[in-house]
Amino acid sequence: MSEAAVGYAREQGARFVEELKDLLRIPSVSTAPEHVGDVRKAAEFVADGLRAAGMENVRLIETTSAAHEGGHPLVYADWLKAEPSADGKAKPTVLLYGHYDVQPAEPLDEWKSPPFEPTERDGNIYARGAVDDKGQMWMHVKALESAMKADGKLPVNVRVIVEGEEEVGGEGIAAFVREHGDQLKADAALVSDTEMFAPELPTLCVGLRGMIYTELEARGAATDLHSGMYGGAAPNPFVALAQMIAQLKKEDGRIAIPGFYDGIEEPTKAELEAWRSLPFDEEEYRKHEVGSSELTGEAMFSVLERTWSRPTMDVHGMPGGFVGVGAKTVIPAKATAKISFRLVPGMKPEATFAKYKKFVEEICPKGIQVKVTLIHSGEPIVVSTDNAYVHAATEAMAEVFGKETVFVRGGGSIPIVGDFVRELGIPTVMMGFGLPDDNLHAPNEKFHLANFHRGIESIVRFLDKVGAGA
Ligand code: BES
Ligand code: MN
Ligand code: MN
Repeated sequence: MSEAAVGYAREQGARFVEELKDLLRIPSVSTAPEHVGDVRKAAEFVADGLRAAGMENVRLIETTSAAHEGGHPLVYADWLKAEPSADGKAKPTVLLYGHYDVQPAEPLDEWKSPPFEPTERDGNIYARGAVDDKGQMWMHVKALESAMKADGKLPVNVRVIVEGEEEVGGEGIAAFVREHGDQLKADAALVSDTEMFAPELPTLCVGLRGMIYTELEARGAATDLHSGMYGGAAPNPFVALAQMIAQLKKEDGRIAIPGFYDGIEEPTKAELEAWRSLPFDEEEYRKHEVGSSELTGEAMFSVLERTWSRPTMDVHGMPGGFVGVGAKTVIPAKATAKISFRLVPGMKPEATFAKYKKFVEEICPKGIQVKVTLIHSGEPIVVSTDNAYVHAATEAMAEVFGKETVFVRGGGSIPIVGDFVRELGIPTVMMGFGLPDDNLHAPNEKFHLANFHRGIESIVRFLDKVGAGA
């Protein structure tokens, strides 16, 4: 075990945090055209960090994307010089993945300190991207630096790929994996972009939901109309969207699209059993994580099933019409709804989209033309837990946290993980250090600093164990 690397990480921990703050100051919002320059700056920052860590062949790889303005670069690095074991066996290659792009920070007035001015409070660092995923990606870079500086080498061969489009669907990296998969050849992948089930509870995430992100555009009258003069006779596209949305998801949480649930795979009895033994208090979750008066959804499924192994639908925003202060009496000519579905194993994004589109076109109210667009999609994935890499991760985390590691699924999506498993054919380990109250995608996103340091140590130990063939 490289105690030297762990020692280096502890000694240098304060500097690692200061560097992370510099990265967090760069507003690399991947969906926002006005931030393309910042996104590139963040990519350069990561590349510089990998060079300083002693990684080789560090470069930006350009991508193109239809989902948003241009395409944001990938950052690549490798170090493929691990000495073979005493018996002459080559060391495995581990592919480290993370993303340097972030979600938009709005609504800004909800932040206690500005989203791009990282601020420490109560052992947490607050900033957009603190935990999702700049902080966690930086743990990878710093774990590599620690091993390199302390030992002059790494215990395994390593490739690093960091993307800047995860939050907008990850089209660029998906194309790269499809077309140049050989450049990412590895025996396993390590992803740190998920959460721990509870504070102090080391957690591996073994499944993610897939998604289709769509837009419904409804058009009625040829132009905006006075709602007094025409109200009662002219179609209202917002009302039409509301009617369609209400038919997509019933009050009991069930999606009413014909065939939507066809072929979905249930978790195994053993997996459900394991979920039941996790420390979960529904009332606590309602009060402190959700903060609503009731939880909704399919009552016959537990909350963990509803968020991990059941598909669902959500509406993210309805742009259009009058959204200014005060009142304006208008029947807008056009209205839009941003709607996504979370998918579970057994569901295919293309097939789900086709069923949804057909259904929406059928239920579209008269006088309204509806256009259904797919913005991005990703497949659901459940990874295997029976391999040496998962065992190494389980042990590494258990050592650092002094507790048994638990296995969970995540309700979120990381589109490229499915491609690592299916296109590259490699087992993927999702070792994440976020906490349930870290406010991902919300105001006051944070990363618990103790977890940043424990994450680095877990990764150092993981690489060591993989190198030792443990
Ligand atoms: N890191 C998250 C995904 C995540 C969060 C997985 C928590 C498991 C637990 C990732 O950055 C993310 O937010 N992904 C997007 C998907 C993307 C296609 C827009 C998501 O899940 O909405
Ligand atoms: Mn993420
Ligand atoms: Mn995210």
